[in-house]
Amino acid sequence: MTFKYSDLGLVNTKNLFQRAAENGYAVPAYNFNNMEQLQAIVVGCVESRSPVILQVSGSARNYIHPDLLPHMVRGALEMARTIGTAIPVVLHLDHGDTCELAHSCIDTGFSSVMIDGSHHPFDENVKLTKEVVEYAHSRDVSVEGELGVLAGIEDQVSSEVSHYTKPEEVEKFVGRTGVDSLAISIGTSHGAYKFKLKPGEEPPSLRFDLLEEIERRIPGFPIVLHGASTVMAQYVEMINKFGGRMDDAVGIPEEQLRRAARSAVCKINIDSDGRLAMTAAIRRIFAEKPGEFDPRKYLGPARDELIKMIKYKNEHVLGSAGRA
Ligand code: G3H
Ligand code: 13P
Ligand code: ZN
Repeated sequence: MTFKYSDLGLVNTKNLFQRAAENGYAVPAYNFNNMEQLQAIVVGCVESRSPVILQVSGSARNYIHPDLLPHMVRGALEMARTIGTAIPVVLHLDHGDTCELAHSCIDTGFSSVMIDGSHHPFDENVKLTKEVVEYAHSRDVSVEGELGVLAGIEDQVSSEVSHYTKPEEVEKFVGRTGVDSLAISIGTSHGAYKFKLKPGEEPPSLRFDLLEEIERRIPGFPIVLHGASTVMAQYVEMINKFGGRMDDAVGIPEEQLRRAARSAVCKINIDSDGRLAMTAAIRRIFAEKPGEFDPRKYLGPARDELIKMIKYKNEHVLGSAGRA
């Protein structure tokens, strides 16, 4: 079955990014894989009156099932209207790796797709991205491309090392492909172990010099930051306290993300922090109530913790609260 995103109540990223750029904040892109995460993202963003990008990787889409996903999202938007102010919502494919996947998402209600050709040589990346842009733009769907490779594990794309974005390539890439936003590599990485630090050592700064040079070369163009979880210490501590083992987990310091959000960065991707919040809450329940076996009794508190985290991020890190 095919769906057009506007019939589901979704919007593309155009106005959202324009307003974010003009007002110095970033739109949150939260990943989800299941109903509780979707509910938490929507409730957290409605309660903080933030625009939001609901983000799904190819594997998350398969986990949910491609036929179920558009109905879940439509239902979530109806729920948003019932519980509060209508907020602008985008449904976005995260790290799409083929045209077929991107096109299939566009045909089933996505209002934005990422085509991640960053691991290909430049010309191949341009070719792949351009093909998706042509299909997407004829349907008013937004496209995010990527230049530079983040360290860590990306969905279906794994990279041991990071290659910073080369500022001298961005104009050519944006001009040739026609993308609507560009993900860059300036020192973030995916997952909960972003840096290997010695005891007492602080995480290194993101390469704001590269970001500034990119801004100079493509003024006003929406930039995307992947791998932007802060790996919130309270959740890592809670996980370790209640039977987990996440030694040396470390993320991007909040202050650096605040700085990025004030710049040309219009979209900030957060997946790991959401996973940590839910896992911490579930571990606590399991440790404190070993007899509990009703999923609502541990998934419910996990959902509540995620709502709390999302409101905090929107209000205190991204600056998107009150912008819907
Ligand atoms: O950048 C990748 C996202 O965190 C999605 O991860 O492939 O496990 O859904 P996933
Ligand atoms: P984190 O692993 O830092 O949450 O990054 C998520 C991401 O970039 C999804 O595309
Ligand atoms: Zn990513």
